[in-house]
Amino acid sequence: MFEEAQYLAPVTRKADGSIEVELSRSHPGFADQVYRERRNRIAELALRHTPGEPIPEVDYTPEEHDVWRIVSAELAVAHQELAVAEYLHGCERLALPKDRIPQLQEVSEALQPLTGFRYLPAAGLVELREFYGTLADSYFHSTQYIRHHSVPLYTPEPDVVHEVIGHANALASDRFAALYRLAGEAARRVEGREALEFVSKVFWFTLEFGVMAEGGDLKAYGAGILSSYGEIREFRGMDIRPLELAAMGTTAYDITHYQDVLFRAESMDHLEDVVGAFWATCDDESIARLSVAVSGRG
Ligand SMILES: [Fe+2]
Repeated sequence: MFEEAQYLAPVTRKADGSIEVELSRSHPGFADQVYRERRNRIAELALRHTPGEPIPEVDYTPEEHDVWRIVSAELAVAHQELAVAEYLHGCERLALPKDRIPQLQEVSEALQPLTGFRYLPAAGLVELREFYGTLADSYFHSTQYIRHHSVPLYTPEPDVVHEVIGHANALASDRFAALYRLAGEAARRVEGREALEFVSKVFWFTLEFGVMAEGGDLKAYGAGILSSYGEIREFRGMDIRPLELAAMGTTAYDITHYQDVLFRAESMDHLEDVVGAFWATCDDESIARLSVAVSGRG
């Protein structure tokens, strides 16, 4: 999921104990009371969920299943041309339904025998250390709602399309799943807030928004690009930079626009050698040295 607080609608508990998801005025579902009620109920399901228990089912509407059908068909076409082979391999293994939104429990049960990853429902923002820490245990926190049906190809927040089409397909690949786990181990290992943020930014610029050279073309492997109808058609025109840890860990990003600075791995091996090895070994000191190297460049 997108880990940044401002990207996710805040979830609050009201005085009467009920749960409310606060959508902003610009959200496509803001004026739709039925949608808002469902969002509140879905958030409540996640808050009530106990790890180890099955993930509660959501009663998606026919319009919502249609949203999935439309987005999933559009993205599948784009993936054939623009996604890296390792991600497509994950898609084949996981074989998600194309005509309806899969329940998270179903996604979790399909994923576990492949790479050991399981899903956990999240109502909204999951604190950085919690989100990454559980990756080390092969758990992925995921939102369960879907975008508003009036704009099937757009969402201002990470919905089940992002979490499942973007992340679960990658988590169905042994090589990507290993990288997610290493990111989690790194987040558990570092102690300071700055080091944790550095680890999470490297995650952002790789597993969320990473691109890779493949077969003479530039392809995408980041879940944020691969689940976005707009970004998947635009990423080749962005500012593409070499895969440097210090740059990724210190570059600021604006989540309200398309990601315009992207970092290119030269291959899966290269990604594993640079980013996998970093997450496998980094600590507060090594990260401080990388950060200083960048500020020293002026
Ligand atoms: Fe994400």
